[in-house]
Amino acid sequence: MTRHFLNLSDAGGDAIAAMIADAIDRKAARAGWPKGKADADAPLAGHTLAMIFEKSSTRTRVSFDMAIRQLGGTSIVMDGGSMQLGRGETLADTARVLSRMVDAIMIRTDDHAKIEEMAAHATVPVINGLTDLSHPCQIVADLLTVVEHGVALPGSEWAWLGDGNNVLHSIIEAAGLMKFNVRYGVPQGYEPDPRFGEEAEKRGATITLSRDAQAVAAGADVVVTDTWISMGQEHVHNKLAAMMPYQVTPELMALAKSNAKFLHCLPAHRGEEVVEAVIDGPQSLIWDEAENRLHAQKSVLLWALGKL
Ligand code: CP
Ligand code: NVA
Repeated sequence: MTRHFLNLSDAGGDAIAAMIADAIDRKAARAGWPKGKADADAPLAGHTLAMIFEKSSTRTRVSFDMAIRQLGGTSIVMDGGSMQLGRGETLADTARVLSRMVDAIMIRTDDHAKIEEMAAHATVPVINGLTDLSHPCQIVADLLTVVEHGVALPGSEWAWLGDGNNVLHSIIEAAGLMKFNVRYGVPQGYEPDPRFGEEAEKRGATITLSRDAQAVAAGADVVVTDTWISMGQEHVHNKLAAMMPYQVTPELMALAKSNAKFLHCLPAHRGEEVVEAVIDGPQSLIWDEAENRLHAQKSVLLWALGKL
């Protein structure tokens, strides 16, 4: 079976735990090494990852490119618009062609149905580098980051504030798989897709909506937010005013546990979803979180290629 990674459930909780453990080991093993030097075991030597970007990216692009290099392989990075894809070649045909030449495909696109279409026709793993629906690779890095900083995932309390978006969907999915709970505070009309919460609750997580930002933050182990305007929503008006009550401030952080961690997948908009005193403050893990995209993406690649 080809191991696609379109959502976290494609791997499951045990595999995600293995990814986190492997990332911790690999990160420690290469401490102090030049960033361009391959890991000692170079487990993906001879392998090539093709990456397709139909949306902007800094972290996903660089972390996957460095990840495949450190694993001993190489990458081909393409913008959708400069491919025949941009002139109407189908995703199915693109998947068939790339499958004949490369070992894995990572794609960042808009409609999640497009990545499902690609996976249906690819005979090599297809990895979700973000769609409008979900961002599973980000959440492997987020889980790694909080675990590294001493949070025990089972039973931990996560507070999400802001937009009910792709990143929240993957956090809720992770809650079901890794047995933690999520309270989310979002304005009316910006709720996440209820299917993620339903699935996570079937797996034993508690997923709660509150319109009261203070109640969401109270007692949390991890406080998370993301941009209020995701890629492709630039035309959405009047959203910022609705989001303002959910801005992450020091006052909200003070309601969380005293050792609570703050996460943001970046890019950030200081003064919108979070104020500087929080994102640049002592509880913020954002730079470790960003670095951990590299270590987590190595684990995702190893899992997809059957090495984990
Ligand atoms: N967090 C994240 O996915 O960042 P990029 O959009 O820069 O890839
Ligand atoms: N929710 C954001 C995440 C960016 C990494 C977006 O989709 O633009």
